[in-house]
Order: sequence, then structure tokens, then C-alpha cells
Amino acid sequence: MKILAIYNLKGGVGKTAAAVNLAYLASLAGQRTLLWDLDPQGAASWYLQTGNAGDTPDKSLWKNGSDVAGLIQSTAYDKLQLLPSDLHSRHLDVWLRKEDGHEVLREKLKPVATQFDLVVLDCPPSLSHLADSVFTAADLVLVPTVPTHLSLRALKSLIDYLKEQGYTRSLLKPFYSMADRRRLLHRMLIEQPPKMMKDICATVIPYSSAVERMGEHRAPLETYEAYSYAAEAYRELWKEVNAVLKRR
Ligand SMILES: Nc1ncnc2c1ncn2[C@@H]1O[C@H](COP(=O)(O)OP(=O)(O)OP(=O)(O)O)[C@@H](O)[C@H]1O
Ligand SMILES: [Mg+2]
Repeated sequence: MKILAIYNLKGGVGKTAAAVNLAYLASLAGQRTLLWDLDPQGAASWYLQTGNAGDTPDKSLWKNGSDVAGLIQSTAYDKLQLLPSDLHSRHLDVWLRKEDGHEVLREKLKPVATQFDLVVLDCPPSLSHLADSVFTAADLVLVPTVPTHLSLRALKSLIDYLKEQGYTRSLLKPFYSMADRRRLLHRMLIEQPPKMMKDICATVIPYSSAVERMGEHRAPLETYEAYSYAAEAYRELWKEVNAVLKRR
């Protein structure tokens, strides 16, 4: 079982869009996939849940110590399952500090490790104790990065933090997200990424209204606009990411 985290300390950069689309594409490729929504905002859960399943679960992985297996839900898609967001997870940082366990995510997943080929973590936008658990658990941390100076600054802070904490740099892999090639700055940064992004994914996810419509369809992009540029870009990104995961 491989663990792929989609993380950025910046908000609104396309983490959830990437998590849902990549998880779906992995399942389409035959991988038994679990999307774990770690964000109390619950956006990934909302995209994938149908009917009444969107109700907040009474049981909490964190507060009541419920086990993962009992909280996993099926989705409309064959090999894709969901561990929905848990409102109690807004207190997660307090809990994690108390337990002081960076291994906690991997530990929680142990009982279902043989049931899945891939776990995708949709992370909330913060650099916190949860983030450390994510970095400890993940085989690869994908960082959606909008081609702007502020986003690059956030990426630099993240790279510095990882170095400071002794994680390997290769744990992180940025990709350009919400890129608008009509903008000079975006074009410049895409054509000549700064040195710290030397291992950036070749695929660029474009800014696209097709992605925004995920909220209308409450579904992965591939299911309703597979012919769009953005859908093609996610397919390419999935190929790249899968190749890296296979080597880990
Ligand atoms: N490639 C894209 N093109 C256009 N809009 C996008 C794209 N990716 C995401 N969006 C839109 O931008 C908004 C934020 O996207 P998303 O929720 O994926 O970001 P996020 O990083 O997960 O945000 P948060 O930090 O709040 O969790 C959403 O309205 C989404 O529909
Ligand atoms: Mg999100």
C-alpha cells in the first residue's frame, strides 16, 4: 500500500481537486484506492458522497478512537472508497500533540493496509502536527503550486521546514496548478521554474472552468468532461505520479 499526500500550507491551490481526480484515475487504472479526507472542511467528502452519506459521522477516528475500517464508505466508483472528513479533526492538532506520535496516520491505516493499493490524503492547509504525521506516513507528498511569487514563497518555507526536520527533499514533488498561460508571470515561471523546483512534475494543471464544475457535478472531472484539457492534464499527472510511486 502506497500513501500519496496532496499538501500545501497555502489554501485554495487545488489540493482537493487534485486529490479527488488523482484518486479517481488511480481507481480507474485498477488500483484499490482510499481517499482519506483529513480536512475538517470536508470538500473531498462532499465531492464524492451521495445521498445522506454526507452526514457527519457520530463516530470519530480521533475522539472515540473508532477504527478506520468501520468508517470507510463506498463511492459511486468501483475501486474508490472514502474515509470521510471528521468534524472532530479540527481538534486533531491538540490530540496529536498529546500523543506526540508522528506515526499515527500509518498506525491508523494498518488494519486496512492489505485492502488498498493506494491511499490518497487530502490535507488541510496548515503546517501543523498533522502535517508532520503526513510527512512521516507518505511515500510522496505532491504540492500543488500556483505559478505566483507568494506560492513559491510558501513552497520555499515548506522545503526549509522539511530540511530542518530531517525529512528527505525527494519526499516533496511540486506541480504547477491553476496555471493561466495568458499571464506573463505564469508563463515565465512555468518556462523557467526556480532552482528549488528542479524536480517539478512536467505536467501543468491549467486554470479551467471544467475543474470548477466539479462542484456542480460533485464528481471527478474525468466522469463528465474527459475530453477537456484539464482532464487530459490530470491523466498525465497521474501517469507521472504513479511512475514515481512505483519506484518507492
Ligand atoms: N485547475 C483549476 N482551475 C480552476 N479552478 C480550480 C482549479 N483547481 C481548483 N479550482 C477551484 O478553486 C477552488 C479551490 O480548489 P480546491 O478546493 O481544490 O483547493 P484546496 O487547495 O483544496 O483549498 P483548501 O486549502 O481550502 O482545502 C475551488 O473552487 C475549485 O473548484
Ligand atoms: Mg482542500
